[in-house]
Amino acid sequence: MCGIVGYIGPRDAVEFLVMGLHRLEYRGYDSSGVATITPDGRFALVKTAGRISQLEKRLADTPAPGSVGIGHTRWATHGNPSDENAHPHFGGDGELAVVHNGVIENYRAIKQRLENEGYVFQSATDSEVIAHLIDSCLKRQPPVEDMAAADFGPLVGAVQLALAQLRGTYGLVVLFHQWPEVLIAARLGSPLIVGVGDNEHFIASDASPLAGFTDKIVYLADNELAVVTASELRVIHRDQGQVNHNVHVLDFQAADVAKGGFDHFMLKEIFEQPEAVENVLRGRLDHDAATSKFGGFNLTPQQLRALNRIIMTACGTSWHAGLVGEYQIETLARLPVEVEYASELRYSNPPIDNGTLVIAITQSGETADTLAALREMQRKGCPVLGICNVVGSTIPQETDGGFYLRAGPEIGVASTKAFTSQCTLLAMLALYFGRLRHLSFSAGKQIIAELQDLPDKVRQSLKHNDQVRSIAEKYAKCNNFLYLGRQFNFPTALEGALKLKEISYIHAEGYPAAEMKHGPIALVDKNTPSVFIMPRGQVYDKVMSNLQEIKARGGPVIAVVCEGDTEAAELADDIIEIPAVEEYLQPIITVIPLQLLAYHIAVVRGCDVDKPRNLAKSVTVA
Ligand code: AGP
Repeated sequence: MCGIVGYIGPRDAVEFLVMGLHRLEYRGYDSSGVATITPDGRFALVKTAGRISQLEKRLADTPAPGSVGIGHTRWATHGNPSDENAHPHFGGDGELAVVHNGVIENYRAIKQRLENEGYVFQSATDSEVIAHLIDSCLKRQPPVEDMAAADFGPLVGAVQLALAQLRGTYGLVVLFHQWPEVLIAARLGSPLIVGVGDNEHFIASDASPLAGFTDKIVYLADNELAVVTASELRVIHRDQGQVNHNVHVLDFQAADVAKGGFDHFMLKEIFEQPEAVENVLRGRLDHDAATSKFGGFNLTPQQLRALNRIIMTACGTSWHAGLVGEYQIETLARLPVEVEYASELRYSNPPIDNGTLVIAITQSGETADTLAALREMQRKGCPVLGICNVVGSTIPQETDGGFYLRAGPEIGVASTKAFTSQCTLLAMLALYFGRLRHLSFSAGKQIIAELQDLPDKVRQSLKHNDQVRSIAEKYAKCNNFLYLGRQFNFPTALEGALKLKEISYIHAEGYPAAEMKHGPIALVDKNTPSVFIMPRGQVYDKVMSNLQEIKARGGPVIAVVCEGDTEAAELADDIIEIPAVEEYLQPIITVIPLQLLAYHIAVVRGCDVDKPRNLAKSVTVA
């Protein structure tokens, strides 16, 4: 859940390292550091607790010159955020430095052994073990006259020997004091890519640091190690030796990873949702067959027709999208769907049969629990499809097929456009499965027309931003919120509550509105606003009576309603209007005022919206 970078080439390395860490800061931001080899052959190590801006202050006092270097921004797993626990970590007495993203599960045993060998540890981290272990293995390598002429063989050997003793996950880069002309990177379970430049190479945890530097990237796979000099990149697989590597073209620009004039990435990404929904729809609506079409099924219509159950698995916001998909697919395709938390599914051992399809939903493609759950279901012989936003990330590489969201980079830790894109894609899957089963041609045409109107409906919802801001200012001092919806909008209630929790640190809960009287209604008082998600639909009247139960107990009510709904306006304290859409598409529209409400409340409370405390964008440890 950290971000790592590396650079080797003609530039001043720290320029790319610090810019890269800024772009990776959403992966972890409690401490950071860089290490370079200076032109006069010294190791320059600068690291600190706190944000990258704190590191820049340190670098202003103690610069780290040099044209080769590594860097790290941290999300602490072992050892609290501190200068000592920040990366890079030295191996031996400064023979090498390592940055690491991941968790080493057997670090204590190795640490004990290394301490017996005389190694002295400066930090409480699992990662420092890697640095000393590589140094210990290097001391056992046969000496060579000319390391470059030997293709850095002893360095590669030492790293491979060390990696073979590790249990856990890693994305790491090693910089050697004596050999500044090479970097060695390796991955197992944590993402790592190499950017190919003109007589220079860039290493990073994901593509965002590379935008504007190169558009040629190589995705390292598990058990691959990269030997990187300024002019050459070699990829060596643990078992297969040197392997060919495919160079891919980066599908986004520097502008995509900049705020574009917005105060926060989250607000920018909220306003990118009309285009994101257009992107996920593009080329996937088959008007002639009145259905949707996908390239990534890798299953025949006969196999898909024979399905009798879908298990969706995910975490956090993606799990909420799965719940929306359950309603959509069961309604439009009459196909049973279960939505499982990935962290539970990996251990719950559910009964499955040949008619079960698993769909893993993830924005980042790196969430460890979702990865583990899909591997478990594949182990049981289940076909697993992925719905993912990050091209080339781990989960798409491991699923049997799948669909990219094309929503563009999502940098704000609180997921927004990925959620609406996931729900739109799931609606198209519901259409596909429905047309494979009982859904008529005309019903299919109708659904296609509604999907095509969606981007404009999203645009309309965004028009209420100013009104939502004033409602946010009114309730920003409240410390408890309830989010209430029914049917398709129950998952939206959960998502609205999660958004508020994760960026404003206010306690909030989402409930099916009718559940309130079975207990939670005891929480209602004049300081606990209830946010009702109640567009017109089959349960509108029921939700209205739930609203009256809250009003009867003095609870303030904010209601998300369809334009022109005067009934709710009479009862609610504040209303936010949205354009009307069919029920199976409502979560895509009703969630937008909830995203904006959470955003503006967090801003009024002075929270760091893009980098909320204790969180990180992709959770790569399980
Ligand atoms: C949502 O705002 C959070 N960032 C978090 O709950 C997230 O949805 C969850 O960690 C799953 O991430 P993924 O979609 O990248 O797998």
